[in-house]
Parts: sequence; C-alpha cells; structure tokens
Amino acid sequence: MAAEGYYIGLMSGTSMDGIDAALISTHPTGIRLLHTLSHPWPAALEQRLRAQASRASCTLQEYGEIDHLCAQQFSQAALSLLDSAGIPASRIRAIGSHGQTLYHHPSSVVPFTLQIGDPSVIAENTGITVVADFRRRDIAAGGQGAPLVPAFHQALFHSPEKNRVILNIGGIANITVLPAAGDCITGFDTGPGNCLMDGWCRKSQNQPYDASGEWAAQGNVHPPLLQSLLQDDYFRQSPPKSTGTEYFNQEWLEARLRQYPEIPDHDVQASLLALTAVTVSQAILNWAGDTDEILVCGGGAHNRQLMTELSRRLSPIPVAPTDNIAGGISPDWVEAAAFAWLAKQTLTGAPGNLPEVTGARHPVILGGIYPKNQGF
Ligand SMILES: Nc1ncnc2c1ncn2[C@@H]1O[C@H](COP(=O)(O)OP(=O)(O)O)[C@@H](O)[C@H]1O
Ligand SMILES: [Mg+2]
Repeated sequence: MAAEGYYIGLMSGTSMDGIDAALISTHPTGIRLLHTLSHPWPAALEQRLRAQASRASCTLQEYGEIDHLCAQQFSQAALSLLDSAGIPASRIRAIGSHGQTLYHHPSSVVPFTLQIGDPSVIAENTGITVVADFRRRDIAAGGQGAPLVPAFHQALFHSPEKNRVILNIGGIANITVLPAAGDCITGFDTGPGNCLMDGWCRKSQNQPYDASGEWAAQGNVHPPLLQSLLQDDYFRQSPPKSTGTEYFNQEWLEARLRQYPEIPDHDVQASLLALTAVTVSQAILNWAGDTDEILVCGGGAHNRQLMTELSRRLSPIPVAPTDNIAGGISPDWVEAAAFAWLAKQTLTGAPGNLPEVTGARHPVILGGIYPKNQGF
C-alpha cells in the first residue's frame, strides 16, 4: 500500500509526565511535524500508574482496569490533537501507540516487557487504525525490545558529513550513534536520565521535577555518594542493554543513601544530576569516541544545569537540542514522532528495530495492527 500520509504518535515514557501526541506527515524524503499536544494524566490514574511502576506485583483486576483507563486517555489525546489541528480522523493512516510501560525485563531468564493502554479501545474510540505493542516482537527475536527510536533517529538525523550522537534524556537516557558513513549504527540505554532526580525532587520538594536544574545547582556533588552510585554493574555492562524504572528507582537510591544519612537534600540532587551527566558522557566517550556533534531530545534538554554539565564533560564536542539543526525537530516531540513513523514502518511491512542496537537476531516488523472498522 502507499505509505505516505498522516500518522499520529502517542508516547508516555517512564517519567509519567503526561501523554505526548504528535501529528506527522511522511514523504519519500522524510517527515514533517505538523501538530503536537501534551495531554495530562488525570491525577488519580497517574497515582495508580506510579504505584504499579514501583511494585513488582499487581492484581489482575487492577491490571485490567488501568490497561483500559490508559487507553481512554490515549484516545482522548489523539482526538484532542485532531481537534486542535482541524484534521478529521479519516485523514489519518494510523496511530502508533507506545503504551505506558509498567515493567521492562528483557534480560531475565524469562524475558518480557509490558506496555499497557488497550489498542482495541483506542481504535474503537478514534475510528483510526492503531499500531501498538512495538517492543515484544523484538524481544521475541532475542532483542532487548529497546531502544526502538534509533531507526527513526537514523531517518531524521543522519548526516553524511558529521558523526552524530542523538541523546534522549527521558526518565531513562538512551543514545543513538549515527556515523557519517551510515553503517554500524549503535545505541543503548545509558541508565537513569531524569528518573532519580524527579523521584528525589518529588520526595524532598514536593515538585514533579527540578525546573532547569536550579535546585541541583544550589548543591554540591558529594563525591563518595556519586562513586557509590557509579558502582552499579549496569554502567559497566557492554551493549546491547536497556533498563527501566523498575530498576533505577527510589528504592535503588535509598539503599545507597543509607550509608550517608547526613547529606543535605540539594547535595543529593546535585549528585544525581552528576550521575546522569557522568554515565551519559562515559557512554558516549567509550562507545562513540569519534563524535562531531551531540543532539539532545527528551525533557532533560530543558534542564539547563544538566546541559551545562554535559557540555563541560564532553567538551570540545558541541551539545545542542535537536531543533538546533536544519530539518531538526523540537526535543519535546522526537519520541512521539518516532512512534508515528514506526506505525508507518509496520503498516508497510518494513522493519522498525535495528538488530545492532537491540541485539535481536534479525530485523522485525514491530507491533500489532488493530484495524479501523471499514464502515460497518
Ligand atoms: N523545564 C525543565 N527543567 C528540568 N527538567 C525538565 C523540564 N521539563 C521537563 N523536564 C524533565 O523531563 C521529564 C520528562 O521528559 P520526557 O522526555 O517526557 O520523559 P519520558 O519519555 O520518560 O516521559 C520530566 O519528568 C522532567 O524530569
Ligand atoms: Mg514524557
């Protein structure tokens, strides 16, 4: 089928800061970001999601209910996006819905990953074909199921002149290494992005995040705490690798903070910011030493203190947001646009994973297709 047209991407990452909705048009030479919308989680549902994300168990009743309730919110996000863009649902070829991750365990003896937000409900509510459940096919093929954005990063950000790294700082941070030569694209989750900083800020300041990193900037890094955080084996593992907030979470932090009960709160925050900056910088220097330019997306791009710290540690490599280059798009919408693009890949029978990145045995067509009703 002809693939070019309008697609919607729906993304809610581990930060659970809301649902990002992006309307894109695809062309043989690339994509255009046409319209965007951020849809907040209702407070009660956000609370239920956060409670499940930090727990390893959940009743089937609770699972079924939040699966359905998430889908209602994803539907609402897509419908509000169309409403504000003034485009009818009939013009949209598909919605790519990532779903809300509840658990990600790709490396356990029995590997699995779980994203919720029933795609049937989204297809029924919107009247649009939905592509969802992107990660499990890659895991079935022996991969990590993550990160899945690198193929999109390649399509959008590859430069024949510069070796680029795309750094996405969401709850978890991940990099995509895009050599100018076009081959050997690699990428992996480097570890925590904003998730530990957000959790600490919520606990100590009752704020969802540290705006611009100003609170962290008031503190000093506590070197023994930073060293203790850096001891985690995840940072030493070679790629392919991926992780989530079922691992890097408040309990992970509290277990390491117990040795240092006297550290002022803002020094903890400064140390958590340093943890993200150090682990991201080391990942880039170790695995992409020849980088000419780093482009940053995800909410972490708005953390001025973190961006300054990354620039300092990676100097002289320039670090800038993804809209800093011609044809780039705002850091806030790269992931949502990626899942719109991945829906197009799936509908046209094209693979969406990069086996060099996820470790899968071969490229796979990602996700399941939940077709719209054909007029009955
Ligand atoms: N102005 C800001 N200053 C500092 N951090 C910010 C700002 N805006 C967003 N963030 C961070 O970005 C996070 C959301 O990033 P996002 O890319 O949506 O992550 P995810 O994919 O995990 O949902 C917030 O939780 C917060 O940590
Ligand atoms: Mg988000």
